[in-house]
Amino acid sequence: MSMRKINIGLIFWLLALFACESPSPEQAVEGSEAAAPDRSDYHSYARPEEARITHLDLRLDVDFEAKQLSGLARYAIEQAEGADSLTLDVRNLNIQRVTAGTGAQEREVAYTVSEDQEYIGSALRIDIGPEDEVVTVYYKTDPDGADALDWLAPQQTADKEAPFLYTQGQAILTRTWIPIQDSPGVRITYEAQIQVPEGLLAVMSASNPQEVAPDGKYNFTMEQPIPPYLLALAVGKLEFAPIGDRTGVYAEPSVVEDAVYEFADLDDMLASAEELYGPYLWDRYDIIVLPPSFPFGGMENPRLTFATPTIIAGDRSLTALVAHELAHSWSGNLVTNATWDDFWLNEGFTVYFERRIMEALYGKSYANMLAQLGYQDLMADVKDIGPESEDTQLKLDLEGRDPDEGMTDIAYEKGAFFLAMLEGKVGRENFDAFLREYFEKHRFQTLTTEEFVQYLEKNLLEKYNVEANIDEWIYGAGLPDNLPVPTSERFAAVDQAAASFKAGAKPGQLDTDEWTTHEWLHFLRQLPEGLSEERMAALDEAFGFSQSGNSEILAAWFEKAINNGYNKNIMPQIQAFLVEVGRRKFLAPLYRAFVESGQREAALDIYEKARPNYHAVSRNTIDEILGYEGSKG
Ligand code: BES
Ligand code: ZN
Repeated sequence: MSMRKINIGLIFWLLALFACESPSPEQAVEGSEAAAPDRSDYHSYARPEEARITHLDLRLDVDFEAKQLSGLARYAIEQAEGADSLTLDVRNLNIQRVTAGTGAQEREVAYTVSEDQEYIGSALRIDIGPEDEVVTVYYKTDPDGADALDWLAPQQTADKEAPFLYTQGQAILTRTWIPIQDSPGVRITYEAQIQVPEGLLAVMSASNPQEVAPDGKYNFTMEQPIPPYLLALAVGKLEFAPIGDRTGVYAEPSVVEDAVYEFADLDDMLASAEELYGPYLWDRYDIIVLPPSFPFGGMENPRLTFATPTIIAGDRSLTALVAHELAHSWSGNLVTNATWDDFWLNEGFTVYFERRIMEALYGKSYANMLAQLGYQDLMADVKDIGPESEDTQLKLDLEGRDPDEGMTDIAYEKGAFFLAMLEGKVGRENFDAFLREYFEKHRFQTLTTEEFVQYLEKNLLEKYNVEANIDEWIYGAGLPDNLPVPTSERFAAVDQAAASFKAGAKPGQLDTDEWTTHEWLHFLRQLPEGLSEERMAALDEAFGFSQSGNSEILAAWFEKAINNGYNKNIMPQIQAFLVEVGRRKFLAPLYRAFVESGQREAALDIYEKARPNYHAVSRNTIDEILGYEGSKG
């Protein structure tokens, strides 16, 4: 269906046509465009081919007492011939009224909200007329049902002085705080005016302030079109500190200095990313360090990555995560998966790109360790999911399921190894040229897996006259034989130490002096099941794992401790970690280990205290692992 912007001249012309009963307006307007590919997204009610939003003007008040956002969302729309409604996704939103019209004048219009469907929400269907260019929805969020929003009390922040709010949109949570066409296949520009309590700073995935506004009113613009899952807001007692000319950090005052130290290489990362795959098209790149409840390691909100404080290790050893979120500025934010079935186009490319940045900055031996750990994650996930399961395909089928279920290491790691395999076929130089052009040609667009495969065949395989088992990789279950298994010399040394420990050596006899975080992780992952309490205690005493300031090491150690029944000796540390940190990647394996080692009750005890500190994303996952049904009474 052809899409056109209604303009006043055209309307007069159409009216004139009606008046003299000339050919129907459909016949009279411009010719149609080429047939659109199938991009239907079953996780959204929106029908952008009928009427689509192109720009959002958001005006919200942030009320910490009521845990509520209230205000309006005004959209510029484009409609196809014959459209009579605009459909938006909403979930648990309180819609107060809707108006539509031209920029100058709007009138009250009729709307319906369909029955709520689990995790999908409802369709907000708004009656529109053929000349309407603007629609405005007046609404409030639900204090309890807005899963994107995490409202934190002062005690849940680093400085314990002021409340904090942050949003998490991906995959389909934006609709719980903004009525929107919540499909990654839709792109919009936006502006926003956010009113917050005095003394607090508000930041978004947009142009950002660097200082507190005395009246608590902040204005934002995002001039590049982005998919709705990248709309993001954070409000708190925040300070800004620059790192380079184009980069900086937002964090609570007591965290800023550590963050600046940890991310000191940010400008170099940005430069090396640009050198690999072309110019950074989003102007600034800043990071906000959130309170520890943030359910992810990082989230690639454009211009402003949202990050967990657990990557601040003090020794810059966990910054691959920053390279990952930065890489999304190309893979994901510039070129976006059309639906959540195509999620690997976002994450697989990003993991590949992340490792290339880390290799450029810190050398091949560093990148090889990352690839090895990723390979181990992949093997574990394939085993968990089942090598025959369709969920191990790169192209997913998430119809009827929460897209969250597709967010496994298949998309990340199988996706990245697929690209590494292709690199091996044509050589690095050719592959880099291919990727650079791919990003350039598809910038600010969305792609389906099928469209990517077509592009790949023409621009890589045919061009260099190579063959590859593309279908097996993308539509086949399990792992193809030609997966390029990474090797790591530095891990070979760790393997030796692990073997001598298994053979009975005392921890003090192992040669661990030069080990960095990644070597320790590799060592911990290899600890056998069924180690005695004495052996576990000896390790802990020699290496201080239970006291580690490194969240990755803590999480890996605690998992082994729970599996080996050593946890009863370090319960205060495990509980402190689980109560403080809300990052799902750490929580899920630990709670699972409790359940699988027959300690569900101990886990539930901790969970009662920890749950109020978790974002809905983590709560939902852990509720399921523990079969938690709410504290009764
Ligand atoms: N975009 C993801 C986070 C995400 C995925 C949120 C799916 C919601 C749904 C982000 O880029 C990511 O992958 N984060 C990882 C970091 C990593 C692999 C280095 C994380 O949070 O652990
Ligand atoms: Zn990612």
